[in-house]
Amino acid sequence: MPPSAFLHLKGITKNFDGTQALKEVDFMAEAGEVHAIVGENGAGKSTLMKILAGALQPDVGVLLLEGKSIQPKSPQYAFRLGIRTVYQEFSLAPHLSVTENILLGQMPTGRFKWWVDWQQAYGRANELLESIGFKGVNVRSTISSLSVSHQQMVEIAKAVAQKPRILILDEPSAVLSQDELKQLFALIHRLKQESTLVLYISHRLDEVFEIADRITVLKDGETVGTVLPSATSENQLIKMMVGRPLEAIYPQRKKLPGKSILDVNSLNKVDIFSDVSFTVADGEILGMFGLVGSGRTEVARCIFAADTPDSGTIKIDSRTVHLKSPCDAVRTNMAMLTEDRKRDGLVMQCSICDNAGLATMRLVSRWSYLLRGQQKKLVQSKVQELSIRPADISRKVRELSGGNQQKVVLAKWLLSNAKLIILDEPTRGVDVATKVEIYHLIGELADAGAAIILISSELPEILGLSDRILVMREGRLAGEFDGVQADEESLLACAAGINV
Ligand SMILES: Nc1ncnc2c1ncn2[C@@H]1O[C@H](COP(=O)(O)OP(=O)(O)OP(=O)(O)O)[C@@H](O)[C@H]1O
Ligand SMILES: [Mg+2]
Repeated sequence: MPPSAFLHLKGITKNFDGTQALKEVDFMAEAGEVHAIVGENGAGKSTLMKILAGALQPDVGVLLLEGKSIQPKSPQYAFRLGIRTVYQEFSLAPHLSVTENILLGQMPTGRFKWWVDWQQAYGRANELLESIGFKGVNVRSTISSLSVSHQQMVEIAKAVAQKPRILILDEPSAVLSQDELKQLFALIHRLKQESTLVLYISHRLDEVFEIADRITVLKDGETVGTVLPSATSENQLIKMMVGRPLEAIYPQRKKLPGKSILDVNSLNKVDIFSDVSFTVADGEILGMFGLVGSGRTEVARCIFAADTPDSGTIKIDSRTVHLKSPCDAVRTNMAMLTEDRKRDGLVMQCSICDNAGLATMRLVSRWSYLLRGQQKKLVQSKVQELSIRPADISRKVRELSGGNQQKVVLAKWLLSNAKLIILDEPTRGVDVATKVEIYHLIGELADAGAAIILISSELPEILGLSDRILVMREGRLAGEFDGVQADEESLLACAAGINV
């Protein structure tokens, strides 16, 4: 008999009233291995991990750890078994400091139990961050003041504060910069040597091929198979995930850019960015690349009036505008898809229809009455187009898988008929097949005459879609490239300030 696996999930089945998320899933993994789990949005990856982490109970199935049956009835129970999870949705306490979050429940106390020794606490949090190679996070800051990428680093630091036996990373990289990803991969290598089993979920297949020892594919709640990256091509893996090979990834564009729609001149925001000037024309996709923290999102927020610049002018259709709020921006036919869907994009406890319909209010309301039927029809058609699952628009957004939530945000803005569309990381957490659909939709929007600003940290996406690419570095425009002639190396070098 072969020796039993370190971790064996056997016959796991899970239903959510009506949705069968997992059907008799079998999964085996070894200690000291990086085991990637891939599959389309809604395939059941997060559900399976939540069952292992005690956040959900299976309807049927057995969990074996080193041959012994375990029943993680609660996250605390799984924690005691040495199972740590970094969830797709952040679970940090936003109003507490980095230190308090990392050391939660183990804050060092002074002579009296109720007296926190802050000096020691800051020191320990710092030490931990340094020992795992995460730099640049201030341990005294409150979580809510940090960028999403730094929040993610803290989340990971918290999970490895005591050596885990199993570390679950559910799309850890979606918000990380290239540099931070390197730091994470170095940490994963170290954990492997210390015999931790790392379960790694990602939609970025290049990462999966780089870091995984084995890859398990889930599709519609069932295991398709487990493969070795060295013996599998990216196309073979995609076929296992999607059930068919993918056609042209990037759209063929039909329209040349026309007249300028947005004209930004010497935009400044003290300490954040300065002297930013550029234009975007109708039918143009303008890519904005830069390392996380380079100021791209902040510039976009000022254009969308979610923030106020300190000086500079913004012209729309050659007229100077002074927008006071995102509502004003929406009124001038602008739309913005934000990088943090939970904070700015979605009302989790509302339905798909209410969320996706938010930006269409103006289109479907007459004399202040909302034409509900019309709104539903519009939303339903977009839900189909983006293959949002479940396609039932009365479902609450919080019940959707992460990638499907992202698609709802996208549907909302696609429905607004905007002329100027700012997309900040539009394919974050979205599976490969849907990414391709979104790329084609972006192409169609531009061909229909919209001006598009595309902010993305995924280089292939920027290069594949943009007509023109601006690179930002430390709050300034560092370079401009032609979309056809640019290559990965020169963009990265420009973003990092290295001459090649
Ligand atoms: N709390 C819930 N209530 C109802 N349905 C749910 C709930 N959580 C998940 N589901 C459904 O279960 C299925 C699997 O979801 P899951 O989140 O595991 O997918 P995933 O593979 O992690 O997808 P993604 O790549 O988008 O994160 C989906 O159809 C989802 O809508
Ligand atoms: Mg998920």
